[in-house]
Amino acid sequence: MPKILLTLIAALLLVSLAEAFHLDLYEARVPPELLEKLQDMDNPYLPTPERVDAGQLIYFGKGQCVTCHNIDGKGMERTGHAPRDFTDAKWQETRTDGELMWVLRNGSPGTEMPVRVGKVINEEEGWSVIHFIRTFDQSQ
Ligand code: HEC
Repeated sequence: MPKILLTLIAALLLVSLAEAFHLDLYEARVPPELLEKLQDMDNPYLPTPERVDAGQLIYFGKGQCVTCHNIDGKGMERTGHAPRDFTDAKWQETRTDGELMWVLRNGSPGTEMPVRVGKVINEEEGWSVIHFIRTFDQSQ
């Protein structure tokens, strides 16, 4: 096969891999047509210490978040696709609670992030675990 063709195939493969793995960590995970609405959606609960504790229990317990997102929120090493680093201040700032709720309800399509709300936890527990995830933010 001509070398140029091989190079072309390799380049195409790289592009599709980059897309599949969402190499840009800051790019929104929610469908573009919902983004504005989700950015306006507030967490209906206040981040009281009790609420954050409840979120922590879910993270380490029935939500099974810790199995992929790790004890420190930095994410496990996984083949192909690493979960988010919740200690990344830029990521924390970029994402709104409404967007995170969408991901908990729908998973992150094309990745290992599974549906959580409606499956293993309910809405209120979802909002609590979001408050807990915010505590990984190192700029706070
Ligand atoms: C089987 C592994 C797995 C489990 C269990 C899991 N996650 Fe994830 N999660 C991922 C992966 C992989 C990503 C990265 C997805 C992406 O890049 O879009 C992710 C991404 C996320 C994100 C970031 C989405 C964004 O908009 O950037 C949040 C928030 C999240 N997970 C929360 C949770 C919570 C809360 C739980 C538990 C209730 C949980 N995850 C359980 C693998 C997992």
